[in-house]
Amino acid sequence: MKHLLSVHDLSNDELEGILARAQTIATEGNVASGAIVCTAFFEPSTRTRLSFEAAAHRLGADVIGFSDASATSSAKGESLEDSVRVLSGYCDVLVLRHPETGAAKRAAAVSSVPVINAGDGSGEHPTQTLLDVFTMRQALGALSGKSVALVGDLRHGRTIHSLVPVLERLGVSMVAVPAPGLGLPDELAGGIPEVSIEEAAASCDVLYATRVQKERIEGKASDAPVIDAALLERTKSKAIVMHPLPRVNEIAADVDALAAAKYFDQAKNGLPVRMAVLATLLENRS
Ligand code: NCD
Repeated sequence: MKHLLSVHDLSNDELEGILARAQTIATEGNVASGAIVCTAFFEPSTRTRLSFEAAAHRLGADVIGFSDASATSSAKGESLEDSVRVLSGYCDVLVLRHPETGAAKRAAAVSSVPVINAGDGSGEHPTQTLLDVFTMRQALGALSGKSVALVGDLRHGRTIHSLVPVLERLGVSMVAVPAPGLGLPDELAGGIPEVSIEEAAASCDVLYATRVQKERIEGKASDAPVIDAALLERTKSKAIVMHPLPRVNEIAADVDALAAAKYFDQAKNGLPVRMAVLATLLENRS
């Protein structure tokens, strides 16, 4: 595996290999000793950047990077390609977040080191999907035959765009509960029925909520459906509740204390899963 730009870059074996490695990663300190990981974040992030950086440190790698592109030469008009040509000369793996869909692919085309897509516009967010699957398995065991409701901004949410094809591969059935006007893009929508939040809560194993991606929407954005303790009680829901975070108001605070709430577990699982991804991509460095 040269880059991780999309979930489609991972064969089933590679996906399972990373998740298995994430399970045992605590014993793998120093496998990346001497390596340099660059986190190039052209868009805001809390969990993704800091868990990648913590993962790099835990593996024994050093970290360089930026989280405010206005302090880099892109503010002077440098192209993404030129920035990547330069940055890839300073590191062994480049973790890139960028507001434009397709940016990671463009970066990979000119990079001399592996590129990890840490979110490209409305495109993909493959490492989020790996930690989502890891968390689902932790809570539910084997996923084949389970059901997941995709809730919120399914049009612009890159976490959703990576999650859907992987859940399909794992034999998980899906329903959609989109915010008004923000349904799945056509290429992903096939065979995924739209249902109400009540139906989803009553029948699914997972409620996967997402925020409306206001920064990618011109004009007034609609609101995402809200999951609260009353909904879960009314529908006798047995679902676990997930969210890539940050949440705005998609999940009420009264869900936090319930055993169903798994969103902070997801954030925590970012560390071992990203350690496994970095260790895998750094294994064959020259
Ligand atoms: C997500 C993202 O950046 O796509 N955040 C994350 O990485 N956990 C979700 C979002 O911003 O809504």
